[in-house]
Amino acid sequence: MTEQDSGDRIREEGNLREGVPEGATPEEKFIYHGVVHDHGRDDTVEFIDVVKAFGRNRVLDGLNLGVPDGLITMILGPSGTGKSVCIKHIVGLLYPDEGDVLVQGDSVPDMTDDELFAMRKKFGVLFQDGALFGSMNLYDNVAFPLRQHTEKSEDEIREIVSKRLREVGLGGAEDKMPNELSGGMRKRAGFARALVLEPQIVLFDEPDSGLDPVRTALLCDLIKEVHEENGGTYIVITHDIASARRTPDYMAILWRGKIVEAGMRHELFESENPFVRQFLSGESAGPLGME
Ligand SMILES: Nc1ncnc2c1ncn2[C@@H]1O[C@H](COP(=O)(O)OP(=O)(O)OP(=O)(O)O)[C@@H](O)[C@H]1O
Ligand SMILES: [Mg+2]
Repeated sequence: MTEQDSGDRIREEGNLREGVPEGATPEEKFIYHGVVHDHGRDDTVEFIDVVKAFGRNRVLDGLNLGVPDGLITMILGPSGTGKSVCIKHIVGLLYPDEGDVLVQGDSVPDMTDDELFAMRKKFGVLFQDGALFGSMNLYDNVAFPLRQHTEKSEDEIREIVSKRLREVGLGGAEDKMPNELSGGMRKRAGFARALVLEPQIVLFDEPDSGLDPVRTALLCDLIKEVHEENGGTYIVITHDIASARRTPDYMAILWRGKIVEAGMRHELFESENPFVRQFLSGESAGPLGME
């Protein structure tokens, strides 16, 4: 999205209510203003009017979001709002019923199988539990994408794997099997593996789930450090507010299939939107209830 577009979106009264569901109460209309603050960069990933339903469950309901190039973006929202569904649209594991998803300007639903395969090579993905292969030790797990997708020699592979494992604080654990590792170690190992092919885009689906607050904070710091060192576009999915305070440059809050508000971290923490305020402060009183 260009600077012009986004500025206009915020200014135009009509567009402030963009995405209001039919039959919404005045309070809901106010909450649902769908403001997208400009990030001043190109969009690496773009959702354009994306609708996705499973049967009668309309999970994405006209989603519009641009993920800025070269920053850490966090997509936040209550459980079951469609965050994982978003991630699956980006890598072409799900297709929209309506609208479009672009990665670096190319439409994912329009890609041929070969194009999709090539596009996926740009991504590193960290799945929820690290998704390590149980039959391989840590070293072989992290070396796997290099052996699979490159012609590198074992010497070159050793250099890369050792560097990545050191980077995530697992330098001494190369010979361990996944079942000998704690949940936090498995996630860090999954992170090392997601990075070995030097992806331009890294997706993290709930890197913090199942971790205690201290380990969550350490993992968030690690994500930031590795991003500073390597660059790239990171997309982190979470519902953890503590992570939101420290990790992202840009943030988007998803609810009922739409963006409630997206902007730089300080813009969201200073938001006047009652839903955003309630969600980011973790309070029980406010428009967000148990549904
Ligand atoms: N393949 C599928 N088939 C049918 N329904 C699905 C499918 N995938 C997701 N859903 C539904 O879509 C909704 C959103 O699911 P999603 O997993 O994206 O939520 P989430 O925001 O990631 O939640 P959480 O924070 O709990 O991980 C849920 O109601 C879920 O049941
Ligand atoms: Mg999820």
